[in-house]
Amino acid sequence: MAKARVAVLISGTGTNMAALLYAAKATDCPYEIVLVASNNPEAAGLKLAEAEGVATFAHPHKGLSREAHDGIMHDALLAAKTEFVALAGYMRILTPEFVGKWEGRMLNIHPSLLPKYKGLHTHERAIEAGDSHGGCSVHLVTAELDDGPVLGQTEVAILPGDTEHSLAARVLIAEHQLYPRILAAHVSRERDPDWLVAQVRERALALPEADEVASHGMPCFGIIKGKKFAYVSVDHHGDGKTALLVKISGAEEQNQLIEMDEDRYYRPAYFGDGWIGIRLDLGDTDWDHIGEWLRKSWQSVAPKKLAGLMQAADAF
Ligand code: GAR
Repeated sequence: MAKARVAVLISGTGTNMAALLYAAKATDCPYEIVLVASNNPEAAGLKLAEAEGVATFAHPHKGLSREAHDGIMHDALLAAKTEFVALAGYMRILTPEFVGKWEGRMLNIHPSLLPKYKGLHTHERAIEAGDSHGGCSVHLVTAELDDGPVLGQTEVAILPGDTEHSLAARVLIAEHQLYPRILAAHVSRERDPDWLVAQVRERALALPEADEVASHGMPCFGIIKGKKFAYVSVDHHGDGKTALLVKISGAEEQNQLIEMDEDRYYRPAYFGDGWIGIRLDLGDTDWDHIGEWLRKSWQSVAPKKLAGLMQAADAF
């Protein structure tokens, strides 16, 4: 299985970048570092990355609008065929446009137990508040600063006499352990059948009167006491693939889809022309699109009255 391509953005020392990079040297690490980029051409971490044979890129932000600088960084990420971005001490506030382009694929490490102490001076604030523990969090980046869903945290005990520096040093050790582990889990999740099935389940069961049964060992979604509108094929006959099967209009649509993207779409064996298989494990699944497929499939099997209610609700 190809390793996920990760770019790391830094502004300074880059010890978290180094931790990610050295973890990536393990043969079973599911990601590789393809780029280390910075807004600061003097960032010490750039030199280390270079010495370790990792491509680097730097562009100062001075004199540029946020949009312009984010745009330059985004182009560098695309040029490196980046799939995931790890912010590691990247001290820039990002534009919502840039964040939106990497939704669900950009992580950050923050030196506090979020949602506590967003922003700066986290250790000082934890000590001043008399907290028993500081710590660090890895979270998905959203447009709001230090606010995205937390993927993992490590608590670090605050000792009597701790200063912000002594606590920061200890938290940094915890950061170096936490970040590679959480990044590895995150890039692997789209290959994890349980996670993929859970994504389908969440969207399928949100449709009116939908329920789930197991059919021939496959998770299967239908309308209560009615017809089935989706199956998830997991490792069918040991093919190692995870795919969603939904209803379509017929052979013509099936052929069109397969012609358009033959890696993603396929004709599911035994299901005939009225169904299409959609691979979920390619790493670039558009989950809104999957939601749409489920909804269309549901519409096509829903009793008229129920489908009509949905249409009326949509029109409203
Ligand atoms: C780390 O402690 C990281 O959590 C923090 O900057 C430091 C970077 O160190 N990030 C933030 O405060 C982001 N809000 P490093 O350059 O040695 O990895």
